[in-house]
Amino acid sequence: MSGSKVVLVTGASSGIGRACAELLSSQGHTVYGTSRKPSPPSAGHRMLEMDVTRDDSVLRAVATVLEEQGHIDVVVNNAGYALAGPIEETSLEEARHQLDTNFFGVLRVCKAVLPSMRARGSGLIVNVSSLGGVVGLPFQGLYSASKFALEGLTESLRQEVASFGIQVTSLQPGDVRTPITENRVRALQCGPDSPYRGAFETALGIIEKEERAGAAPELVARQVLSLMERKQVGVRYAVGHLSQRMLASTKTFLPARLFERILMSYYGL
Ligand SMILES: NC(=O)c1ccc[n+]([C@@H]2O[C@H](COP(=O)([O-])OP(=O)(O)OC[C@H]3O[C@@H](n4cnc5c(N)ncnc54)[C@H](OP(=O)(O)O)[C@@H]3O)[C@@H](O)[C@H]2O)c1
Repeated sequence: MSGSKVVLVTGASSGIGRACAELLSSQGHTVYGTSRKPSPPSAGHRMLEMDVTRDDSVLRAVATVLEEQGHIDVVVNNAGYALAGPIEETSLEEARHQLDTNFFGVLRVCKAVLPSMRARGSGLIVNVSSLGGVVGLPFQGLYSASKFALEGLTESLRQEVASFGIQVTSLQPGDVRTPITENRVRALQCGPDSPYRGAFETALGIIEKEERAGAAPELVARQVLSLMERKQVGVRYAVGHLSQRMLASTKTFLPARLFERILMSYYGL
């Protein structure tokens, strides 16, 4: 892909999405960011209202870009949040909302943009997954489940749309310094009397400390830009601090129980 592109970045009001929207627009691309709260244009890109959990909202935002630009070259499926808590104490409603945002949200956007990409015979979809989509993280079980599901969707979709000239890839950031930490939702049932309370607080403390020391969101944005400049994109890209990028590959060659023991000891379990 070369030249100026029309790019849609979901969840561009903050963190990684905002860094992507700002970097890509600074490089001359026509960028539409989205947020659940409509906001005025910022730093060279326009913001559209989109709640990825609502079909009508996704369709409306995609239709706006298509009406104004005629096509969409690149979609960065980034909108998402982290739900934390013991799986046993996570309500189905909390679990559904996590999947509805991080997984079905991506599916909704893909379904909305694919017809126009197919008609044009080109397009790039970058799904922002996570290291948590490669490694099941304790007390982030539903978050990990949403990202594991996203990994499967990405691998399958890639194969289905390749003959239409559309490429799909997964970005797997390690910890990134963004408001995801403050925006984290905790399972309501996990109160002071929870049998998991001590372990949960210990593990979450480590997770949040790592996030605050994470890579800058601009690093992920630069990776997105570099993908847009490639002719062919790979299946997945780990991005972030080296130790975290290595964690994903370590999983592939260490015996599963040894890997698990290392992970549990790391999180104080
Ligand atoms: N930070 C990390 O360490 C890290 C690591 C791996 C992967 N990730 C992934 O990176 C992505 C971005 O996270 P971030 O760290 O940049 O977090 P963030 O700063 O909290 O930003 C999240 C973005 O998602 C949007 N969003 C949340 N729920 C939405 C919904 N229902 N509909 C539409 N937009 C919604 C928010 O927009 P509004 O609130 O304005 O609607 C916001 O722009 C997520 O998918 C996350 O899982 C982050």
